[in-house]
Amino acid sequence: MADLFESHQLGGTVALKNRIVMAPMTRTRTSEGDVPNALMAKYYGQRAGAGLILTEVTNVAPSSKGYALMPGIYTEAQQKGWRLATDEVHRVGGKIFLQLFHVGRMAHPSLMPNGEAPWGVTAQRAEDADVFVQDAHGKLGFVRAGAPRRLETEEVSALVGTFSEAFAHARRAGFDGVEIHAANGYLIDQFMNSALNTRDDRYGGSNAEDRTRFLMEVVDEAVRQLGPGRVGVRLSPFGKFNAMPADPRVEETLLHVAGQLGRRGVAYMHLVYQLMPEGNMDTSEFEERHIDHALLAKVRAAFPGAIVWCGGFANPESAQAALDTGLVDLIAFGRPYIANPDLAERLKHGWPLAEADPSTFYTPRGEAGYTDFPVYSAD
Ligand SMILES: Cc1cc2nc3c(=O)[nH]c(=O)nc-3n(C[C@H](O)[C@H](O)[C@H](O)COP(=O)(O)O)c2cc1C
Repeated sequence: MADLFESHQLGGTVALKNRIVMAPMTRTRTSEGDVPNALMAKYYGQRAGAGLILTEVTNVAPSSKGYALMPGIYTEAQQKGWRLATDEVHRVGGKIFLQLFHVGRMAHPSLMPNGEAPWGVTAQRAEDADVFVQDAHGKLGFVRAGAPRRLETEEVSALVGTFSEAFAHARRAGFDGVEIHAANGYLIDQFMNSALNTRDDRYGGSNAEDRTRFLMEVVDEAVRQLGPGRVGVRLSPFGKFNAMPADPRVEETLLHVAGQLGRRGVAYMHLVYQLMPEGNMDTSEFEERHIDHALLAKVRAAFPGAIVWCGGFANPESAQAALDTGLVDLIAFGRPYIANPDLAERLKHGWPLAEADPSTFYTPRGEAGYTDFPVYSAD
């Protein structure tokens, strides 16, 4: 059986020193122009004890800006900024993948270029779902997602090219690979959901092949730019975050995706059951439905790469128990990484974990609640 602390060769190319993954987490600490900075490099470097770090989600283009203060990878300054983080993580012996997305309808005209409407799979608005904005006076806050505009077929194809450029930029910025964010109700997830994607062009409709076409075209570009062993895909089947409607075809779609990603030789599938809004999560949901073994076994049979599981892991025992099922290969920790930069060491030695303060999760306040957590000391 796989041991949480043993090394793992990801995608045949990326050597991970353990099976612990730092889950992607938006922390809104960028500099002007959505540029990653030295403080962010320090934050990631502090957490390089993880076998693999997944960065906070990063915008492929200005039209993807659904939240204030998130980084991009489309300007030269952003690419240089990310180089600080990749250099620092490599200097201390870690591995780091860039998580990339387009936010789709989860945006607001105040953040979009020229105040345009958010980009949607359809014109259907995300009801009762919030996005994080900054007003003209710099004040931050949550507002309801704006009414989206349905993307034309050619615009969807063009967006594949935008992702391709982002993958090339990620490679040049020194990342070991990329994670395509196809989870949590953002654009790619919106395309895959049969209740939401009522399009009648080649990117929509009743069959899984059409609804996952956008994802697969994006994956093909990632593979072309970086090679399959450096590409992962994050999915949240059953996720309701960001007003995602229940999808009666979710299992069929998931298994189709697993088969297609397998054919492409993608390094890993990263599965997250449910995400909390704004750091408040009903974790009891995790305990009850932690791993649906029957479904995971089917994914496993369809996908020969690694499976990363994320959500609700907070101690080495439950993480090891998940590995012991033989259904997953790597365990991702999100919130525990916020206050425990040396999480891997703490888990290994059974040291206590520090608690983070959710009010510092998304603040532009710099060091506080970000890089000011000490490593464990017995004193
Ligand atoms: C502050 C914060 C920011 C997050 N940002 C992202 C993100 O940028 N991309 C993503 O895929 N998930 C994001 N998530 C979800 C986490 O990756 C993870 O799935 C979730 O926290 C559940 O894992 P956990 O129980 O180990 O925290 C975020 C979670 C938190 C707490």
